Amino acid sequence: MENRSLVTIAEHSKEKILYLLEMAREFEKKPNRSLLAEKIVATLFFEPSTRTRLSFETAANRLGAKVIGFTDPKVTSSSKGETLKDTIMMVSNYADIIVMRHFLEGAARYASEVTHVPIVNAGDGANQHPSQTMLDLYSIYKTQGTLENLNIYMVGDLKYGRTVHSLLMAMRHFNPTFHFIAPDELKMPEEYKIYCREHNIKYVEHTDFNEDVIADADILYMTRVQRERFTDLMEYERVKDIYILNKKMLDKSRTNLRILHPLPRVNEIAYDVDDSPKAYYIQQAQNGLYAREAILCDVLGITLDEVKADTLKQQRRNRL
Ligand code: CP
Repeated sequence: MENRSLVTIAEHSKEKILYLLEMAREFEKKPNRSLLAEKIVATLFFEPSTRTRLSFETAANRLGAKVIGFTDPKVTSSSKGETLKDTIMMVSNYADIIVMRHFLEGAARYASEVTHVPIVNAGDGANQHPSQTMLDLYSIYKTQGTLENLNIYMVGDLKYGRTVHSLLMAMRHFNPTFHFIAPDELKMPEEYKIYCREHNIKYVEHTDFNEDVIADADILYMTRVQRERFTDLMEYERVKDIYILNKKMLDKSRTNLRILHPLPRVNEIAYDVDDSPKAYYIQQAQNGLYAREAILCDVLGITLDEVKADTLKQQRRNRL
C-alpha cells in the first residue's frame, strides 16, 4: 500500500504544493466539516509545541476526527525505555494517522518506515518542518498574490531553524532570491547552500541587519535563536539578541513587505512592530489551521475534488 506520509517538503512537486494550497483555501472558506468523522488522529509530541500541536488538533476536531496523544514524553513509556519503533507500532494499532514532533533529525523518516500508518512530520530536530512550510507558502501566496520571483530574507538562526530549511526547499519551484542574514555561528548550513546551487536558487549572505539591507524584501522571515539546540550556552548568550527588528527599520521597506515568523518569538521582533500592517505573523499562525486541515485530508486520501464537492453540498444545504 502507498505510504502517504509527509516527512519532507522536498518530496512534493510544484503541482502538489499548489494543489494543497488550493485545498487550504477551501478550508479557509469553511473550516468545519465532517470529512474525517470516524478517524483517529494521534499527536505525539516528544518536544514542546504550542501552534503546531494545537492547530493540528484543531484541524482534526474541525474535520470531525477524534484526537489521542501526548505532549510530554516523560508521561509515556518512552521514559521507561520503550523505543521509538515500539511506540510508533503501538500507536499504529489505535490511530489512522500519526502527527509527530521529535528532537532527533530523521525521526519522522524512521517512523514512516516502521509503520503502514501515515506519519506527518511536525518537526524533527533542526532538520525539517514541512507542515509549517505549507502554512508559510499559503501566507506568502495570500499576501503577495504569487509565489514566483520573490525576494525572501531569512533572518536569525539559519543553522538550527528547521522552518527555514523546509521553506528553502519548497521555494525551489518558484524562482526566489534568498538573502540569508545570520551571524557566522548561525549561518545557513553548507548542505542547504549546496541545495540552492544544485537547483539554481539565487542567494546572498549577510551579517548586517539594518533598514538598507532589507529595503527590497518582499518577505522578511524572522526566526528565534534556538536555545534548545546549543551545546554551549555561552555561545547562545553571545548570539541570542544579535538581530532585533524594530518598527523604525521598516521605514525604507516595500509596501508589499510582509513580516513572517514561525513563532514563538523571544526577542527578535520588538513589540512596536506588531501594529505595523506589514506584521503578518499572527495571521500566519491562523493560516496553519487551514494548511493542516489540507494536510490531514491529503494524507488520509481525501482529494481536492471531494473537498470542493463537500463545499458545494454545504452551500446547497445552507440555501434550503
Ligand atoms: N511554529 C512552530 O512550530 O511553533 P510551535 O513550536 O509552537 O509548534
